[in-house]
Amino acid sequence: MKATEQQDVWQSLLEAFPNTAKPLPSEWARIFDPLRTGARDAMMVVGQLGQTLDGRIATITGQSKYINGPVGLTHLHRLRAVVDAVVVGVGTATADNPRLNVRLVPGPNPARVVIDPKSRLEPDALVWSNDGTRRIVIVADQVKANTPPGVESIALQSTEGKLAPADILKALFDRGLKRILIEGGADTVSRFMQAGCLDRLHVIVAPIIMGSGRPGFSLPAIEHMDQAVRIKMHPHSLEDEMLFDCDLSTQRVKLV
Ligand SMILES: NC(=O)c1ccc[n+]([C@@H]2O[C@H](COP(=O)([O-])OP(=O)(O)OC[C@H]3O[C@@H](n4cnc5c(N)ncnc54)[C@H](OP(=O)(O)O)[C@@H]3O)[C@@H](O)[C@H]2O)c1
Repeated sequence: MKATEQQDVWQSLLEAFPNTAKPLPSEWARIFDPLRTGARDAMMVVGQLGQTLDGRIATITGQSKYINGPVGLTHLHRLRAVVDAVVVGVGTATADNPRLNVRLVPGPNPARVVIDPKSRLEPDALVWSNDGTRRIVIVADQVKANTPPGVESIALQSTEGKLAPADILKALFDRGLKRILIEGGADTVSRFMQAGCLDRLHVIVAPIIMGSGRPGFSLPAIEHMDQAVRIKMHPHSLEDEMLFDCDLSTQRVKLV
């Protein structure tokens, strides 16, 4: 497909996306249809990680810009454009200082959410830029948010410093945010996955072998292969990168 044709298809996908009665353009229906509604309830939660062939999402120093090339990054921006909110952990907000907006494709900016239980992110972080987009920090109860004016704050009960992913999602739902992208990093995506709080997971694999660096997933150790979860998965070629669209609907807990 030529670039201009791709833009037209994308535009018609964006227009049809919120109305589930309308079919999506066939070119991308297989990838985006599952993101229209949740597997168990009115929430849809998709996680994403961009990784190397050997499963690394950043170098040992925490640098991840950019593991994915233009096609992988464009897919990430398309994901942002179809969700109500994009969520990152404070580790990512600190290491990458991301803007989390939609720049590579036409589409609306989602609300930006940072999980920052101790409120350690600097108030001048780019994610808090006042560009008219909703911005939300999630802190542990008793913690006063150190954020600039206009950033909403949600305080949730924590257990040994941990916030339950289901509580985070319910709090976002209560504020009108139903389609959520958990964009990273590894720790945050792994916590949502372990808690059964993802409908889908998009792993975008770049043709890089790093041989060192930070792994994408961190889950409780298992001793036997039969304890490993085999995931239903659809591969999609994105030119020289591969999108593995993992269907986690059977593990997804009811949220709302
Ligand atoms: N390749 C990619 O797709 C991609 C995407 C995003 C980020 N990255 C890379 O990943 C690295 C950052 O990832 P990371 O795993 O270190 O950090 P992270 O997932 O971005 O953030 C983890 C931190 O967020 C807080 N947090 C998240 N969920 C929580 C919960 N349920 N309860 C309590 N606290 C929670 C905790 O903060 P406290 O420590 O304050 O308790 C936790 O340590 C960076 O190097 C970045 O470049 C790569």
